[in-house]
Amino acid sequence: MAVEYFMYKGVKFSPGSYSEESLNFAENEFQVQDDDVYIVTYPKSGTNWMIEILSLLKTNGDPNWCNNVPIWLRSPWYETVEGQSQIKDVTPPRVLTSHLHYHIFAKSFFTSKAKIIYIMRNPKDILVSLFHFSKMLHLYRDPGSFNEFFEDFLQGNVLYSSWFDHVKGWMQLKTSKNFFYITYEELHQDIRGSVERVCEFLGKELSEAQIDSVVRNASFTAMKENKMSNYSLIPQSFMDQSKGSFMRKGTVGDWKNHFTVAQNEYFEEIYHEKMKDLNMKFFWEQC
Ligand code: A3P
Repeated sequence: MAVEYFMYKGVKFSPGSYSEESLNFAENEFQVQDDDVYIVTYPKSGTNWMIEILSLLKTNGDPNWCNNVPIWLRSPWYETVEGQSQIKDVTPPRVLTSHLHYHIFAKSFFTSKAKIIYIMRNPKDILVSLFHFSKMLHLYRDPGSFNEFFEDFLQGNVLYSSWFDHVKGWMQLKTSKNFFYITYEELHQDIRGSVERVCEFLGKELSEAQIDSVVRNASFTAMKENKMSNYSLIPQSFMDQSKGSFMRKGTVGDWKNHFTVAQNEYFEEIYHEKMKDLNMKFFWEQC
């Protein structure tokens, strides 16, 4: 059956996981706690990679929790209907996840001491990752051809709407002391250094051996093999695993295998137009 998205304050959501009530609750009633940490992303930016890292930090590098509890229960999405029912079982300090845009994030966050880790990724690679993922996850509308999806992504005519608006919204917090941002590409280039930076932001001190364990157990290979982290436990009715794998490639620059020269030029044009006011140079622009 074709999926019809609905709008909540200018952002597209899927009725498969969200409702007007769950979003209204997330924005206006949800009580953020001072020791909460939120992983916030536009989808396919490395959300689950960061959940795995933070899960391992919570256990000082011990992989037992990651190997025994599904990733979505360790850090539920606080705005989804299901996530809201799972949160009561999360032991503090809570690590919660969100794909919400800045303007509809929990109001109570802004008067709290809670922290946000925002992960960004080259939108060209997000487009490719999302195209493949949309074919598997029934939450998403069928992406159609790559060319059709390409246009939809650039126009924000996709689930969670515009990547550009997501990033621009959240970058308003870039100098806040309880906001830390990092890119998927930096995680790739220097995972150990990135984990150390996350520890510093969270005020968490781990030994060398504990950090080694975080790095080892949050690697693409370890996560792909861990059924608690690779989404293979998700029922077929929700995610069709015959059409692909959640842990797909885990690389930087896969867009080069998908974009034509003309598509790349068109993407660049829109990217520069939409991002020019931000005055920021992103890590992937140097890769
Ligand atoms: P690809 O589809 O390019 O492989 P999210 O968690 O935000 O949905 O992002 C999913 C993307 O992150 C997928 O990208 C997935 O393979 C990648 N990913 C997940 N865990 C990873 C890891 N440990 N190392 C590198 N990439 C990872």
